Amino acid sequence: MSVLFRDIDEIITMESAAQIEGRGPLREEHLSIQKKKVMVCDQGHVVWIGDLKKLPRKLYKIKKEVTLKGNVYPGFIDCHTHSVFMGDRRHEFEQRNQGVSYQEIARLGGGILSTVKATRLGKPQDLQQQLKCRLQSFVNQGVTSVEIKSGYGLSIQEELKILKSIQNCKHPVKTSATFLGAHALSPEFSSYEAYLEELKKHLPRIYKEGLARRIDIFAEDGYFSVEQAKGYLREAQKIGFDITVHADQLTRTGAARLAIELQALSADHLIRVNDSDIKELARSQVTCVLLPASDFYIHCPYPPARKMIDAGCKVALSTDFNPGTSPTQNMQFIGLLARVQMRMSLPEVFSALTIGGAGALGFTKKRGVLAAGYEADFFVADKNWDEFFYDLSAIPISSVWINGQKIKLGDG
Ligand code: NIG
Ligand code: FE
Repeated sequence: MSVLFRDIDEIITMESAAQIEGRGPLREEHLSIQKKKVMVCDQGHVVWIGDLKKLPRKLYKIKKEVTLKGNVYPGFIDCHTHSVFMGDRRHEFEQRNQGVSYQEIARLGGGILSTVKATRLGKPQDLQQQLKCRLQSFVNQGVTSVEIKSGYGLSIQEELKILKSIQNCKHPVKTSATFLGAHALSPEFSSYEAYLEELKKHLPRIYKEGLARRIDIFAEDGYFSVEQAKGYLREAQKIGFDITVHADQLTRTGAARLAIELQALSADHLIRVNDSDIKELARSQVTCVLLPASDFYIHCPYPPARKMIDAGCKVALSTDFNPGTSPTQNMQFIGLLARVQMRMSLPEVFSALTIGGAGALGFTKKRGVLAAGYEADFFVADKNWDEFFYDLSAIPISSVWINGQKIKLGDG
């Protein structure tokens, strides 16, 4: 039994961009906009898009018709967030603006560790409740899939608390949990190796219980080395985890190369990559996840997005929402930074927030596109595609649909 969505002005399907895996440079025609068409969804999927007059009614038993006045967009996919944390780091923000570096603050016991202290004090139900509110504010902006990393527990018990709060959080948005126990050295350990050994022991359980299916590590000078990351990620891969890496953010460690070698789904940040890294990334299937809000907040250069796109890299954009380097969930801001600071074209921004995000999460061919066979995750807005990511006001979304079901907007 199918639902017919009608009275749509434009459907931004992204089909043509998807045919080239979202690899740019991209222009308006890659958005594959369908004008005055209807969309049929069945069992959570898009099954047909076309002219109402040509709808094969015998094939699709239409049980319900829904009038969607406006334009239909594939739901945004935020593929890199640290959405489970307690407290904030506004004092560090002031310090950084006064010239103290992110690394210096971490050396003084702040940074990730200060959020770990606050998060450890949180009860599971507090984490869940807060996460639910945060997920709702993503959905209000047209986001239909959110990746959520652990990483502010830094002990098995505390990391499990975070992963379980993700698993138990009741919200209709699609979530993908990533285990980031290797975010920083645990305060209870004196060596990175010993901490990784401890984490490794628990990986099979985390995978088996479905608490996370992706694994991440902060490979950075002063954090985990690329060599340590390699051993750890390989072990995780044997268990079945998909791989992603916080790579080449503050310094060029070679972590992007490691991501390529291990056939990671994504390499994230990539501010310090050089031309030869870009060439290799472009030849690979690794999605380059760019996080311009964190570059903005910590006074970092922006990644060489134009070079990456022109070389043919797969590119995604994401908020990196976290209390330290990116205390924002504002998608409009991400798109604006991508356009202004990284010279991405508007079709490239749309692709990065849909096809790119799907690639980073391992959902290529399922999400990020509106065409037969894809999951029916979309939003409706009066605005035309070329009015997005222009001003700083909230994106005015009329409705959001996940698996063809309407989601409540507002406070949720
Ligand atoms: O993506 N760089 C590592 N992780 C986060 C920041 C975490 C934090 O500072 O709390 C990031 O920027
Ligand atoms: Fe991050």
